[in-house]
Amino acid sequence: MAVEPFLPFSRPSIDAATIEGVGDVLRSGWITSGPWVQTFELRLAELCGGRPVRAVSSATAAVEIALALAGIGPGDEVITSAQTFFTVSNMIARAGATPVFVDCDLVTRNIDLRAVEAAVTPRTRAIVPTHWPGSATDMDALLAIARRHGVRVIEDAALSFGTRFRGRFGGSFGDVTTFSFHPNKTLTTIEGGAIVLNDGAEATRVDALRFHGIERLGDGTRDVAIPGGKFNLPDVNARIGVGQLERLDAILARRRSLVERYFMRWPEEADCLLPPRPAPDDGCTWNMFCVLLPLEWMTITRAAFRDAMQQREGIGTGISYEALHLTTLGRRHGGREGQFPNAERIARETVTLPLFPDMLDDDVDRVCDAVRRVLAECRR
Ligand SMILES: Cc1ncc(COP(=O)(O)O)c(C=O)c1O
Repeated sequence: MAVEPFLPFSRPSIDAATIEGVGDVLRSGWITSGPWVQTFELRLAELCGGRPVRAVSSATAAVEIALALAGIGPGDEVITSAQTFFTVSNMIARAGATPVFVDCDLVTRNIDLRAVEAAVTPRTRAIVPTHWPGSATDMDALLAIARRHGVRVIEDAALSFGTRFRGRFGGSFGDVTTFSFHPNKTLTTIEGGAIVLNDGAEATRVDALRFHGIERLGDGTRDVAIPGGKFNLPDVNARIGVGQLERLDAILARRRSLVERYFMRWPEEADCLLPPRPAPDDGCTWNMFCVLLPLEWMTITRAAFRDAMQQREGIGTGISYEALHLTTLGRRHGGREGQFPNAERIARETVTLPLFPDMLDDDVDRVCDAVRRVLAECRR
């Protein structure tokens, strides 16, 4: 019997024209931030309804810059979900502010808006929601809460580039939005990210914040007033981003079609909690396919399940994500067990299954069969 090749849970899809284009940039003599970054930013801005966009070295850098732009620091509180990636609480803590966690919805995994409203205090300065694949935070409701309390919203759209909210491209409205172009994301620049801003004044401040704080003076010299970091994106990466944007619609359509196949082929008897089923024209994008395992009747742990998938079935899986309030950092900010049941259950039971544009329909069937086999063997 032929051994099937290993199926990773994510793999970037870079076409030949983009690889050729990267070669041209490498041969051009200008490889750090330059004309390709400008082109990439303009293309992103077009998608975002003409709002200024700045490309940076990662979404983590984008969140750090967004918090600095909002003037967030010691004594301030920032509300976020207990179920998202470490970036969010890390950057809030690095700014010297306090991350205030709230729970999320068990199925959509988006931040619980009622809990957000209840967590607002006079010290709240911002809310950072993460939009989950397959379902977006209700931005109208969230922006209404933010306006009522005079706080900023920094949308962590790392997992949802291309999502449309009631027909509007994510990032084309609202306050500040951050994107990730990490290799596991919908669109990649190897490493990279972007920040969508409100106006030219904010963009000028981000220009300084992402590059040493440098301001160019009329006499050709430079000044520094704010201690900026070094978060610029090189042209090599931006060239990849431009190539990916040209294929954006095809990439999004392929990811969605693979998810539809997951729903069609999913073994009911596996008894897992699935993400929201794609509805026609819901505008949602799919960066990951995460399910909750039925640990209550499994005789093996999640780690053993993942091990069986990897070793026996040749299929990679991931974990998205641990509960932020239960990390050592989160506990330092008052996090304790039992505080956010949905975020904690997701952290215990979640596995991320393969989903990437170059996957075949047969690969989805293979994953579904493997899940059925592994779970059937460990039923209590
Ligand atoms: C929800 C979320 N936010 C932010 C990030 C940070 O992205 P980057 O790796 O580009 O810094 C990630 C990365 O995995 C993420 O999953």
